[in-house]
Amino acid sequence: MRTQVAIVGAGPAGLFLAHLLFREGIDCVVLEARSRAHIEGRVRAGVLEQGTVDLMHELGLAERMRRECMIDNTLDIRFRDGLIHLDLPGLAGGKCATIYGQQEVVKDLVAARLADGAPLAFDAEVIGLDAIESATPTVRYRQNGDAKTLACDIVAGCDGFHGICRDAIPSGALTIYDRIFPFGWLGILSESPPIREMTYVNHTRGFALCSRRSPRISRLYVQVAADESPDRWPDERFWDELRTRLGEGGGELVTGRIFQKGVTPVRSFVAAPMRHGRLFLAGDAAHIVPPTGAKGLNLAVADVRVLARALAEFFRTGKSARLERYSDTCLKRVWKTVRYSTYMTNLLHRFEQATPFERQLQQAELAYVAGSRTGQAMIAENYVGLPFEEE
Ligand code: FAD
Ligand code: DHB
Repeated sequence: MRTQVAIVGAGPAGLFLAHLLFREGIDCVVLEARSRAHIEGRVRAGVLEQGTVDLMHELGLAERMRRECMIDNTLDIRFRDGLIHLDLPGLAGGKCATIYGQQEVVKDLVAARLADGAPLAFDAEVIGLDAIESATPTVRYRQNGDAKTLACDIVAGCDGFHGICRDAIPSGALTIYDRIFPFGWLGILSESPPIREMTYVNHTRGFALCSRRSPRISRLYVQVAADESPDRWPDERFWDELRTRLGEGGGELVTGRIFQKGVTPVRSFVAAPMRHGRLFLAGDAAHIVPPTGAKGLNLAVADVRVLARALAEFFRTGKSARLERYSDTCLKRVWKTVRYSTYMTNLLHRFEQATPFERQLQQAELAYVAGSRTGQAMIAENYVGLPFEEE
């Protein structure tokens, strides 16, 4: 089998890339290790930046999102001395955030690709890449027990943090930047109406976050130990802890049946450059940001926009100038997003090892933001999404 672009992984990065290339008339094959049911059921992010929403519209993929999404015009931060209420459009030039679960985005993109009759293989695990430094790389994969090979011009490594594409780059060619925070997030989905505003909480017992997925589904998180097991959190313990951390805001909390529970690590990771020969990494395959700020999915989308444009130039004209700039262009925005997610993580979490001096600084930062339109605007403009890098 042969194609122009072999896309490894059908997460947001791989699926958006496939649609962008389809629009440009570029052939691609998407190989996904897991089943369709598995990727459509995986609960992860849920906050879409304006640019991600705009891209769904541009690609004609926004019909269900338009009906089912929730618009977030405000963001609240609760802390010891009070409540910071951010009016997102007022602070960020009219932009807002959109709530629509990652797995709903994945479902819409999968359905549209299959409706296009375009190649998307499930249960197709890529096991090796060959000749990525040549103009004719190949991808080895296993499907239904059969070993298969896909020849291509370009490999797009969209296989997430635990994928294999990044490992195909010789270690001497990559610089890894890594920071693991000493805590995790326990996240749940519950059948209960969410509290009115998206709310981040800095509490002496730890961070908490109240988000939502629909008018009847809440998405809620509390900071826990990095190695915490969700089994140690029976429903009552979760609700009690969240209510305590919400303080005065706890009165608004409505409980309900918890139907999903999991612990997410909090870490930053950047591998640079995001390209080696004919292999281009995008999304979590190249970088992870702490979840505070909800940027992971949006960053994956930003990468593949740049990649699709560069590939369009390459296949149309044979020029590779944009492909040469791909990594630098993406990494500028990646690092700004790492900065923001790290800032929010430091601002809002309980750091067990923090000195009294550092605890005072954290509260002073919150008090500064509470009293400064500039401080609030910085948070708001990042939350709704920085502009895509101009090339
Ligand atoms: P992924 O979504 O990971 O997709 C990669 C795909 O590649 C997967 O479908 C995988 O099965 C496939 N794959 C892997 N290896 C192979 C192989 N060898 N062959 C073929 N296919 C392969 N972000 C937020 O902003 N907010 C959150 O609350 C949040 N929660 C998260 C919770 C969890 C548990 C995780 C893991 C991530 C979370 N994120 C969150 C991050 C966000 O979901 C990711 O940034 C986003 O999924 C990145 O998309 P991606 O397409 O790059 O990678
Ligand atoms: C979610 C919302 C956030 O604001 C965030 O920082 C992380 C996750 C969510 O809805 O899942």
